[in-house]
Amino acid sequence: MSTHDLAFTKVAETSEIPVAKMKMVRIRDNEVLIANVNGRYYAISNPCTHSHGSLSDGSLEGNIVTCPIHGSKFDVTTGKNVVGPGSRFFRAKVSDATSYEVRVDGKDILLYQRSPWGI
Ligand code: FES
Repeated sequence: MSTHDLAFTKVAETSEIPVAKMKMVRIRDNEVLIANVNGRYYAISNPCTHSHGSLSDGSLEGNIVTCPIHGSKFDVTTGKNVVGPGSRFFRAKVSDATSYEVRVDGKDILLYQRSPWGI
């Protein structure tokens, strides 16, 4: 087992996040959104990169989560911002969300947890 393998922490169980659902978990003081897309789990930072809206309170359609505050959309499989906040007349640009490495071990969902030193 490598040190990389040891850096995974259980954050939820698969039964807590059915297909097309999301859940916010905390790891090392970070809020992380876990999304189930067709039976595969993905994780990105939960606070919206626009103005910290809680993405887990938004809606998930396929692999796209929509922020409940101003409508930014993020691809949960990559963290990429695909639509910025605003209206159809003006869309601002915002940063991509941080994506996290996810593993499933039996019924446990594990997240890769960097050390406090970022390694
Ligand atoms: S806080 Fe998410 S779009 Fe503004």
